[in-house]
Amino acid sequence: MQYERLETERLILRGWQAQDREDLYEYAHSPEVGPMAGWAPHPDRHASSEILKAYIECGDIWAVSLRDSGKVIGQLRMYPDENRGKYVARYLSYALSADYWGHGYMTEAVKAVIRYSFEDLKGIDMLSVFHSPDNLRTKRVIEKCGFKYELTLKDAYVGYDGKLSDSVCYCLMKSDYLRQNHKMRLKAEDEGEQTASLSNGSCPAPLR
Ligand SMILES: CC(C)(COP(=O)(O)OP(=O)(O)OC[C@H]1O[C@@H](n2cnc3c(N)ncnc32)[C@H](O)[C@@H]1OP(=O)(O)O)[C@@H](O)C(=O)NCCC(=O)NCCS
Repeated sequence: MQYERLETERLILRGWQAQDREDLYEYAHSPEVGPMAGWAPHPDRHASSEILKAYIECGDIWAVSLRDSGKVIGQLRMYPDENRGKYVARYLSYALSADYWGHGYMTEAVKAVIRYSFEDLKGIDMLSVFHSPDNLRTKRVIEKCGFKYELTLKDAYVGYDGKLSDSVCYCLMKSDYLRQNHKMRLKAEDEGEQTASLSNGSCPAPLR
């Protein structure tokens, strides 16, 4: 499935293009990035070219690029999670160039994908994500994006190197997302009304 281009304050999430090879190689050959997301570091530019071809073909993975320069600094994939019974679920997996960690970029990207999944795409009931117990950065991203902890599966994940690790699993239901957003919108409208009435010089609305 080919997803739409998404824009946030600082990022553009878009389909991959042939000219992204160098940016992909730049972050994907780092041993800090791929292994934490379950894939091997790219050994050379040829490997990046081959993987880029697959990314372009499959279409279910966004290139995460900086809005101001166009540089691709990461990737975000969303594909079917077949383990959710009656729920139509999509699973998220992502990675960012280590040069850009700690600036809130992936949280911004994941939030845009959540909004797109639940507000624009039809029929998705749930998003899921998991991390290995030692990956505290992604744990934090997951929490900041509103996912709920479900359970930890023992030795459930086999890495690219054959190493087993536990999977700490989370999900976000569409119904919870819509409820939470509705509350936030009401709050913002309420605050907007109060600011407007104050700037008009009239009495502030009573607090509820
Ligand atoms: C996980 C990853 C995508 C995070 O991207 P990012 O843009 O740096 O994330 P953000 O800046 O939005 O948030 C990172 C949070 O982790 C926190 N953090 C950083 N190092 C941490 C640590 N050692 N322990 C706990 N929290 C940590 C940051 O303080 C920040 O939280 P805050 O906003 O509350 O301060 C990035 O580190 C990465 O690509 N890692 C390798 C691949 C990977 O792990 N992918 C996830 C597989 S599910």
